[in-house]
Amino acid sequence: MSKPRILVTRNVFPEVIDRLAQHFELETNPQDDLWSQEELARRLADKDGAFTTGSHRIDQAVLAAAPLLKIVANMAVGYNNFDVEAMTAAGVQGTNTPDVLTETTADFGFALLMATARRMTESEHYLRAGQWTRWSYDMFAGGEVHGSTLGILGMGRIGQGIARRGAHGFGMNVIYHNRSRLSPELEQECKARYVGKDELLAQADHLVLVLPYSAASHHAIGAAEIARMKPTATLINIARGGIVDDAALAAALKDKRIAAAGLDVFEGEPSVYPGLLEVPNVVLTPHIASATVPTRLAMANLAADNLIAFFEKGAPLTPVNTPAKV
Ligand code: GLV
Repeated sequence: MSKPRILVTRNVFPEVIDRLAQHFELETNPQDDLWSQEELARRLADKDGAFTTGSHRIDQAVLAAAPLLKIVANMAVGYNNFDVEAMTAAGVQGTNTPDVLTETTADFGFALLMATARRMTESEHYLRAGQWTRWSYDMFAGGEVHGSTLGILGMGRIGQGIARRGAHGFGMNVIYHNRSRLSPELEQECKARYVGKDELLAQADHLVLVLPYSAASHHAIGAAEIARMKPTATLINIARGGIVDDAALAAALKDKRIAAAGLDVFEGEPSVYPGLLEVPNVVLTPHIASATVPTRLAMANLAADNLIAFFEKGAPLTPVNTPAKV
């Protein structure tokens, strides 16, 4: 029997490509070219499955051009690049990579929080520019981290990891808001108290966003929400671009309506709203929250395992939908 044909849309660890090649007939992208959506659709025309990252959308147009497609394995926990409804209707299985990145991403969220509160990149730029000629008592004085109030919007696995770090490591008072409340056991473990969104905005000294992107969370933080935050607060986004209205945030940072922001994700990334590049009180990183070598390897292996389990055992390990039989 011939092997299923798989398209690997971006370059990935050679050892993962080698594993996939033992099970599938592969088309890969060793130059890591950024294919257009049309190019992606053309290459998927004769494929049974795909290994993707967030850089391509799997939407109606792509699905219509890929009549043999049965599964798309995303190397990411977030899958807002999938039109899940269209995939389900077309009988296409989607999978993601939960759990393997939780602690690494929570580490990064905390690092970004600390770098933002303590003005680390702003002060480094000052030093590198040769502007440090003397010490002064208020030089780059930032916000306190230990003992402050940590607000978390979106309390899934990564949010819980950040809560634990804050509560147990830094003695922070943790409050959170989520679609559904955690069990009392989990709340106790995370030392986190459930509050309404308005209270979260008003009370947090550091507000960390860790919720999935959807139409419902689009611009969940805009000018009105920022206006409810403390003028001394920081806002950290490690979730997805589009959850924050970047133009409203840039204006708020410019006017010091909040103290600072730390952003790993952007609306329309890799483009960054120019106003964000112009203000000093923001720490900017290029969507790297899960980027350690072991974690990225674990993510790639889980995406590969999903493809292998789907074709060889009939069910993937971490599905995101239950496709219709077509
Ligand atoms: C990264 O953003 C992911 O969703 O894994």
